[in-house]
Amino acid sequence: MYLTKEEERIYDGEYGWAKQVCMRILVKLGELFNASRLIPIEAAHVSGVSYKTLGDAPVDFLEALANSGEKTVVEATLNPQGLDPSHLAGRLPESLVKNQLKLCLLFEKMGFKTSYTCTPYYIKKPRKGVHMAWAESSAVVYANSVLGAWTNREGGPSALAAAIIGKTPNCGVHRAENRKPQIMVEVKARLEKDVDYGALGIFLGNILEDKIPLITGLGRPTLENLKQLGAAMASAGMINIFHHKDKIETKQKPPEKITVDSRDIKETLEELTTTSTPKPDLVFIGCPHCSSGEIREIAEKIGNRKVRTDLELWICTSHHVKEKTRRYTQKIKASGAKIITDTCAVVTWTDKLGIKTIMTNSAKAAHYAPIMNKAEVKLASLEECLKTALEK
Ligand code: F3S
Repeated sequence: MYLTKEEERIYDGEYGWAKQVCMRILVKLGELFNASRLIPIEAAHVSGVSYKTLGDAPVDFLEALANSGEKTVVEATLNPQGLDPSHLAGRLPESLVKNQLKLCLLFEKMGFKTSYTCTPYYIKKPRKGVHMAWAESSAVVYANSVLGAWTNREGGPSALAAAIIGKTPNCGVHRAENRKPQIMVEVKARLEKDVDYGALGIFLGNILEDKIPLITGLGRPTLENLKQLGAAMASAGMINIFHHKDKIETKQKPPEKITVDSRDIKETLEELTTTSTPKPDLVFIGCPHCSSGEIREIAEKIGNRKVRTDLELWICTSHHVKEKTRRYTQKIKASGAKIITDTCAVVTWTDKLGIKTIMTNSAKAAHYAPIMNKAEVKLASLEECLKTALEK
């Protein structure tokens, strides 16, 4: 792998151990995936910020890195952490809160923006064609497939290293030849509800592994439908990018083809649902974090109704979107629902809050909750989730 003279000096430790370690992480990764050089990036996004998912092992390293004085050199954002300052911090064990806050301070010290969201593209939309180093699979697939930015699916450490060096290896989907569709997916099922897009994503993630699909038959999906599709696909499989078109010329067609029918969607929805309880402990909307449009839609759908007193309704989003949509979030709050920011039901400790059953409209959340939350799950459309959560 070619390194410039400057990069070599960093690699050899002339700029201190912290930069050296970061450069070595990037070079190792580049060598593993046949990169020829490092390329500059415009942004980095680090996952593994929640103490629940990170644990204690990397804390000493992060502490040493933060104390080294090295700072991020590009737009650097953070994935959700384990706490919501308004609603959850006071309900969780003190030791978890303390450890989580310590982690957040370390990232802040390194210059990261305290975004705490899996939808950093709602804070600053990346331009088409820019190179980035984002971790958080749902954001990566959205950036590549919907926004036209270029990012591999980084791990927490490589995104952190890229944020400090400002570069990433030119491998994977940073190369045009690796972004081409490899398999055609003809969707014959009618995708009628929001949740059907997530179910399609899980179905495809399970069978495609890392093959890049060219999907036809989606009709006119909204950006939020595509967000659900990509998030689910990336959680069940290793897909970083998908293409979708309704009219495809023969010469554009990849050689392999599969079809998806209504039965595949129905079976996937059933497989992701593990309980038929009419009263979940928690109804969770906002995985990935809600957009402004989703917040408005939820407020309008709730209207003047109230949340039942025997369950909780969480609407998860970033504090950035919450501030932008105050008019609607106030309406949502008046119903008794909680606008949860900076975290989500999956990466906070719902088990410590006594939550044993979760209803959600997110296939990604339904895919993870049985393990991450030790919870039974019911997957249903936004409409049905709200109907369950609200008084008649
Ligand atoms: Fe985001 Fe949490 Fe879902 S981090 S993508 S809301 S699991």
